[in-house]
Amino acid sequence: MERFALEKGEGDSLQFFSDRVRIEGRSLWSRNALKGVSLRGERLKREGRKEWRQWNPRTSKIAAGLLKSKQESLLPESGGTCLYLGSGHGTTISHLHDHVCGAKNHLGGTIIAVDISPRCIRDVIRLSSSRPGILPVLADCRDLESVSPFLNSKVPWIFQDVSQSNQVELFIKTCERFLSNGGTALLSLKSASERESSGAFAHAENTLTEAGFTLVERIDLAGWEEKHMLFHVVK
Ligand SMILES: C[S@@+](CC[C@H](N)C(=O)[O-])C[C@H]1O[C@@H](n2cnc3c(N)ncnc32)[C@H](O)[C@@H]1O
Repeated sequence: MERFALEKGEGDSLQFFSDRVRIEGRSLWSRNALKGVSLRGERLKREGRKEWRQWNPRTSKIAAGLLKSKQESLLPESGGTCLYLGSGHGTTISHLHDHVCGAKNHLGGTIIAVDISPRCIRDVIRLSSSRPGILPVLADCRDLESVSPFLNSKVPWIFQDVSQSNQVELFIKTCERFLSNGGTALLSLKSASERESSGAFAHAENTLTEAGFTLVERIDLAGWEEKHMLFHVVK
């Protein structure tokens, strides 16, 4: 993925992660795959034939991570396959769709969106009807056998955002089974969800490295999400 920066003027810099996601000053934008549609009231902005949709770091840990770390390697490849555990109502997934699939999925991407909550999956099903490429899966991601039938092969990108205890162990198990070699995986960890909340981040870091993952970055999301850390690893 090519990354470049354009200086528009003093204090107003544009940083492109791809031609579909960019930082403008202190805000993050994805190129809207569904022109004219704002999912949760986020701002839309026209620029010639393109429309940009603001990606809110307060409701998306990936957005917060991108704004904090400014590393495009957090993002999956456009046109790639992603496994997303803990889809929620699909807010972050809609922005990933802008990047991975684009309008009418002309980029040929797939986002396998798993959640245990029927309410959440109902919203993701609605989202997928207007955003092809999203595959909603109602499942408990702790049961890998219930997720496995939806993957043809190992995937190059996994994100886990489930508020459960033992998230690190689940993340490792999932990556060992479903992440391809050299693949990128992100774990959003909320210390309060863990039994030993005080040492949760240190424990996570040690467990991940002992399991053989390379820790690329540990991104503290404070300011956007308190007591949340985003672990970026490569297998
Ligand atoms: C913090 S929310 C996810 C928010 C979402 N990632 C976003 O950015 O919009 C956590 C989600 O994990 C889901 N979840 C919790 N335990 C789960 C499990 N065992 N399997 C699948 N989903 C689970 C919850 O239903 C909830 O929707």
